Amino acid sequence: MSLLYNRKVLLGVSGSIAAYKSAHLVRELIKRGAEVQVVITDAAKDFVTPLTLSTLSTRPVYSAFIEDEQKAYGVWNNHVEMGLWADLMVIAPASSNTLSKMATGACDNLLTAVYLSAKCPVFAAPAMDLDMYANGATSDNIKVLEQRGVGIIDSDYGELASGLVGKGRMAEPEAIADHLEEYLSSTLPLYGKKVLINAGPTHEHLDPVRFLGNNSSGKMGAAIAAAARDLGGNVHLVLGPTQAALDLKGIKVTRVTSADDMLSAMVSEFTDSSLTVCCAAVSDYKPVSQAEHKIKKSDEGNSLTISLEKTPDILSTLGKMKGDGNFLVGFALETRDGESYAKQKLIKKNASAIVLNTLGKEGVGFETDTNEVSVYTVTGKTFSFPLTSKIALGKSLLELFMSEFNLSDA
Ligand SMILES: Cc1cc2nc3c(=O)[nH]c(=O)nc-3n(C[C@H](O)[C@H](O)[C@H](O)COP(=O)(O)O)c2cc1C
Repeated sequence: MSLLYNRKVLLGVSGSIAAYKSAHLVRELIKRGAEVQVVITDAAKDFVTPLTLSTLSTRPVYSAFIEDEQKAYGVWNNHVEMGLWADLMVIAPASSNTLSKMATGACDNLLTAVYLSAKCPVFAAPAMDLDMYANGATSDNIKVLEQRGVGIIDSDYGELASGLVGKGRMAEPEAIADHLEEYLSSTLPLYGKKVLINAGPTHEHLDPVRFLGNNSSGKMGAAIAAAARDLGGNVHLVLGPTQAALDLKGIKVTRVTSADDMLSAMVSEFTDSSLTVCCAAVSDYKPVSQAEHKIKKSDEGNSLTISLEKTPDILSTLGKMKGDGNFLVGFALETRDGESYAKQKLIKKNASAIVLNTLGKEGVGFETDTNEVSVYTVTGKTFSFPLTSKIALGKSLLELFMSEFNLSDA
């Protein structure tokens, strides 16, 4: 889901030839789920009609403090209310005239009055001919606005409406919407933090068609990955072979088959990861050798003996690599003495926390959409999470890791 979903965006449109692109920008913002209120200058109305913008935004477009038809009723457009309503304000296109008014605080029209009243983050996308853009007055105004915290969405270089080629084209509507999303993601608590997760089963092949494996769906790990993504994390999921439908949008995924593949993917991504969560159901053993061709049913005897050897211990390997900035969480599944094994595992594997799956209850385990767990931390704390959906549990666990490991402050 776009970070612009449900956001209130004030779009100021001023008198540049690029104003025709503001119709496209309204559509783009609405497509990403934003509510859009357009405020337009008189000059901009020569380039794009308020009717087009109000139809696309499904809201009246405001231009004057008191529109002609409002005069008889003493009604006016409250610039202060609009400034307070918005989560974000973007002026696109921002003409050189409007940039200059913004820089000096002139407010002789509704757009600049709303700008002065706005409490939300404000962005401006300058659009003008190359010489207007290159003029020292314009660049000084842009500098002043940047110093005051206005986010300048830089103009593009290219062919201009005048036929000249240079810098001054308004950034494309998609790029403006992306810029706003990037800003919103930079305000999220895990922004810039890498979160590494493994999930799903591993398949240890006996021959080209058969393997030792398990029914893990990867749903629990994918839920934690989605929660980390939604909080702005840079999420990398190392996923074993699963057919489950998982929400992997915006998550970097490395698909692996065996425990050995999973180990090398995790090791190569671990060092710069702030939080690593190992919830894959990794096979403990693998065949000592893999047959080159399918093993045939033999006519002699009733049994087949396969020699197995241990697979690498991923959590333990990462525990040995762990530095001060890496928080490492492992999942455990025990059929008896769960708490005691989980606490031993915590120390033995040098983990920061262990999540113990509850066993033997309806609705918990591998292929279900729900789960119930307890968490034991290296600081000696225990947290219990009652039966809930894996999606909700993923969020709760991530919030716990963030607060226990101070992840948003680090
Ligand atoms: C055809 C035409 C194209 C224009 N294109 C631009 C432009 O791209 N950028 C700009 O800053 N001004 C441009 N102008 C000048 C502005 O429209 C003018 O400075 C106006 O006063 C801006 O008012 P506003 O900032 O209140 O919208 C253009 C004028 C005309 C007639």
